[in-house]
Amino acid sequence: MFVVGARPQFIKSAPVIYELTSRRNLVTLNIVHSGQHYAPEMSEIFFRELRIPEPTVNLAVGSSSHASQTSTIMSRLERPITKFRPNILVVPGDTNTTLAAALTAAKLQVPVAHLEAGLRSWDMSMPEEINRVLTDHCSSILLAPTQTAVTNLRNEGLGERVYLTGDTNLDALKRALPLIKKKTQMILGKFKLTPRHYVLVTLHRPSNVDNLKRLRLIRSELIKLSSDQAIVFPIHPRTKTQLERLELCSNSDKRLILAPPQGYIEVLALLRNASCLLTDSGGMQKEAYLLRVPCVTIRSSTEWPETLAGGANRLAENPEVACNLVAAVAMDNRLRRRLMHLSNPFGDGKASKRITKIIIQAIGKLYKKRASQTIPNES
Ligand code: UD1
Repeated sequence: MFVVGARPQFIKSAPVIYELTSRRNLVTLNIVHSGQHYAPEMSEIFFRELRIPEPTVNLAVGSSSHASQTSTIMSRLERPITKFRPNILVVPGDTNTTLAAALTAAKLQVPVAHLEAGLRSWDMSMPEEINRVLTDHCSSILLAPTQTAVTNLRNEGLGERVYLTGDTNLDALKRALPLIKKKTQMILGKFKLTPRHYVLVTLHRPSNVDNLKRLRLIRSELIKLSSDQAIVFPIHPRTKTQLERLELCSNSDKRLILAPPQGYIEVLALLRNASCLLTDSGGMQKEAYLLRVPCVTIRSSTEWPETLAGGANRLAENPEVACNLVAAVAMDNRLRRRLMHLSNPFGDGKASKRITKIIIQAIGKLYKKRASQTIPNES
């Protein structure tokens, strides 16, 4: 059973789901959608673009506080787990869906495999950090994307459960690249953009967008960027709500292009041709690194320290400092050339094959163990 619920989870799970469904002779897959992300542009579009099969069950949890969202997923997931009795439950990433599903399965004695285990930002004020640490500690199979993640897990005494697999976002990106190239002209045309003459911005962390004073400051610093650079800002629903409260949701400045959330192919086509990415997303820092696009992360920490190599990604919490960095790296051709020579710590694009093998072997071991525990019939 695979439990997903939020946008980044659909993306990192898709290559593994693809591999597992192509081994139907060995394994049956149930996909459960928690419903954490429910808007079509946050969910349905990814199922379509990434060709993920329809979920068997949708828990329709919707939006609410962390405690309420996490506990509702837990209570609603108990029934499908009990009904389908999966041999293994796979949870990707670090969202409330991840933690809720891992805890529910662990309490029902179903082994949990954590996809993207071992990431640490060392910042427990982030809800995702709490979710990561707790999920790792109640999982029996830890699928670590990088050597850093393996080391983190070993340091927490979890070394015996760890597998170094590589990163499934790289698998997804490799698979999508031909389509990204094919759709680039159309997407750039839609927003009237010239390659390398715009900055891509994505913001959704509570620490950036829930504080209205800070969000207003980030927006005003963005507008100060050089007149040579447009700013494309696909707005996450959380950020949209906050910008609406500030009455800043209209395209009043010609260079600031506010757009709805984009699909996977669309956002990567925008990223690939941007002069720089300004973001607070974990996944996009990594995608910028893989596409060799300079990145500024408007946070004080990152769960992907590998991306900091060679100045490919820079951390800046202060909006003014972050936007000054954007202005500097967007024009830095020497940095661009340097990025082309960076190593790739995220694997070889075959993580999903490795993970599928690990899952199938683990199921095989469970069956052997059960068979050896069965008391032979006396007759
Ligand atoms: C969640 C994850 C975060 C991940 C992000 C990707 C947690 C704690 N956070 O944050 O790790 O990086 O997803 O997007 O799990 N909303 C809609 N439509 C939707 C979904 C959400 O309008 O389809 C709005 C709701 O008003 C909601 C807000 O967005 O209150 C936040 O949604 P939620 O899923 O709670 O958290 P994210 O900020 O998206």
